[in-house]
Amino acid sequence: MNKKRTEKEISVLVQELMNKMTLTEKIGQMFQSSYDGSAKTGPDFDNSDILKLIRDGKVGSIIGQYDNEIIYKLQENAVSCSTMKIPLLFCNDIIHGCRIIFPINLAMSCSWNMSLIKKSMRVVAYEASHSGVHLTFSPMLDLVRDPRWGRVMESNGEDPYLSSQIAKAYVKGYQGNLDSDNDIGSCAKHFVGYGACVGGRDYDSVDMSEMSLFQYYLPPFIEAIKNNVQMIMTSFNTFNGIPVTMNRYLLKEVLRKRLGFKNVIISDYTSSIEILNHKTANSLEDISYQCIKATLDHEMIGRSYIENIEKFVKLNKISEDLINEACTRVLSLKYRLGLFDNPYKNIYIDFKKYWLKPNNLKVSLKMAEESICLLENDGILPLNKKQKVAFIGPFVKEKRVIGAWGGKGETEDTVSIYEALVKRNYQFAYSEGCKINQSDGDEKYLSGAINIANESDVLVLALGEDQWMTGESHSRSDITIPLHQRKLLDELLKLNKKVILIVFSGRPLILTDYKDKVSGLIYAWFLGTMSGEALVNVIFGKTNPSGKLTMSFPYSIGQIPVYYNRLPSGRPNIPNSTNEYRLRYIDIPIEPLYPFGYGLSYSKFKYEKIQLSQTTITNKQSINVSIEITNISNILGLEIVQLYIEANNFSVSRPVKELKGFKKVSFKPNETKKVIFKLSYKDLQYYNNKFVNEEGTYKVFIGPSSNCIDFVEVKYIKS
Ligand code: GLC
Repeated sequence: MNKKRTEKEISVLVQELMNKMTLTEKIGQMFQSSYDGSAKTGPDFDNSDILKLIRDGKVGSIIGQYDNEIIYKLQENAVSCSTMKIPLLFCNDIIHGCRIIFPINLAMSCSWNMSLIKKSMRVVAYEASHSGVHLTFSPMLDLVRDPRWGRVMESNGEDPYLSSQIAKAYVKGYQGNLDSDNDIGSCAKHFVGYGACVGGRDYDSVDMSEMSLFQYYLPPFIEAIKNNVQMIMTSFNTFNGIPVTMNRYLLKEVLRKRLGFKNVIISDYTSSIEILNHKTANSLEDISYQCIKATLDHEMIGRSYIENIEKFVKLNKISEDLINEACTRVLSLKYRLGLFDNPYKNIYIDFKKYWLKPNNLKVSLKMAEESICLLENDGILPLNKKQKVAFIGPFVKEKRVIGAWGGKGETEDTVSIYEALVKRNYQFAYSEGCKINQSDGDEKYLSGAINIANESDVLVLALGEDQWMTGESHSRSDITIPLHQRKLLDELLKLNKKVILIVFSGRPLILTDYKDKVSGLIYAWFLGTMSGEALVNVIFGKTNPSGKLTMSFPYSIGQIPVYYNRLPSGRPNIPNSTNEYRLRYIDIPIEPLYPFGYGLSYSKFKYEKIQLSQTTITNKQSINVSIEITNISNILGLEIVQLYIEANNFSVSRPVKELKGFKKVSFKPNETKKVIFKLSYKDLQYYNNKFVNEEGTYKVFIGPSSNCIDFVEVKYIKS
């Protein structure tokens, strides 16, 4: 157990320590280094002098080390050889699993199950805290609207309210109360706006209004701060022309002053020295000056701080107070994580025995099952054992389905669809059909696939992106299933068999050509270690799918960006309108192929009788909004019920819909339940220089997706 101290007690201890430290040693706490380049998530960097730097007290933390013997050796150098014997903080990118890999974060967000996400992160923290890790660079809280961006796979989708609830689940899941040996620190990233990079091109620039920043991109960070997140990482991008890592408006004015963040701000990997490429500083000295003035506390990989800041202080160009504040925040974090009580905590030479525990694998199976999204089903699903089924495609046997940022996950741990079928003694035919990535001679595979398809009644095609087509620096301009795989699909569709398409991907793909041609469409994302088990359970009905999309699926690439919570137009696209002067494309619809909040189940749910407890909301008076839902099928199922508002008459134009509530509810066959939401004045607030309420009327919708139409009207009256 960590010794739980009050912030006051920590402050006294830190002050006592700092009173004995030299300026050089204080600046040393502001530097994060790799040890052996094993954390390479950016340009190469020479760390060959790292042991001497540690012994000289010039390193505060280490990134990306998993070898517990090396961790022990580095820590021993710090606490035995340096003057102040300050322990190192060990950080890693464990964002959807350590050895057990959970579904990619975008997939987990589709579960809309906060308690399961939190429980999953408890498992992740358990494995990480037995693998030498003190803090993880997670959760990633970037709002996303452009599926060309490779990092949508790490995100929680396009909605600020849902992303905020998920942020809370991650932080509480990792950190608990920071008093247990299984708790690890967490780091919200990437602050801020990174998902709005121009063209979906990773590392490109970002421009947005203050309204967009506060209304869409900040809420998940606000929720993470409210839940005591221990660190926030700056993003690579410029924000309205100034790199975030040196952006005083964003870091000092917004993050520290308006959002009240008191803990450590860390740069992203070399994002400090990349300021030279942004051309807003002309030297490493200038960079160090700009970043410390913006209150960046900890520099990842870049050495502008440890090589330049001391001279600025001695030349009185910056106050030593800035160094003291940064060092205080780093040392306070180390006290909070218990490193001074036990510098060797979380280091287990026999760490592998804590990995892959059966009960923890069960949690990842449930998470994978609830992350699966059923997008089409003409009744063909679930399959039964009597049918003659052919499983075709490169993803039937593929085990590389953990996605980017796979921690210490090993492909050998992963269960493929094929392995899960064999384990259950199912009878089925199989053909690879083609490779994931284009390879010569795919034609020879094609004939094999067609032969077994002709002898089968149902074809299950498992196709998709390679897992390395998403992730950092993996944006795509053509977000479709790779062409040679589509050729296989097109040939098999000619056979007039029932086809179920399973799509593996780290992003929404363009599926418009297949939506009406397949009998079933299952979105499998990258589900991690238990992928095949979860998918076979869903395909054969042991598990009823319940996932709902948290990112809109574009009708075509030309539609990007497309998201549900857009602002209304002065010339709305009213269905069946003959007015040619309206919001539209002349060649495609303006609606996405699949909207935010959409997903099917094997159950069928009927929504009726939306009701209000009162028709007026005041600051003192919340209301209840309820709906009756009946499972009109004979299959037990989970339904994600969603509540949206539409504001009328506000000082600024507000989105056509805003998610303000959701509940995941279980229904027995033919069961009716009344689902009740509480709506308060705070739910009606919007950003107009600050979060405000204004009197006006609101439509309140409750339904199965953002396309819902049943509403009631309420008034907000200031009281
Ligand atoms: C990477 C990523 C960031 C990660 C960091 C450390 O470039 O942008 O998400 O946490 O570097 O690996």
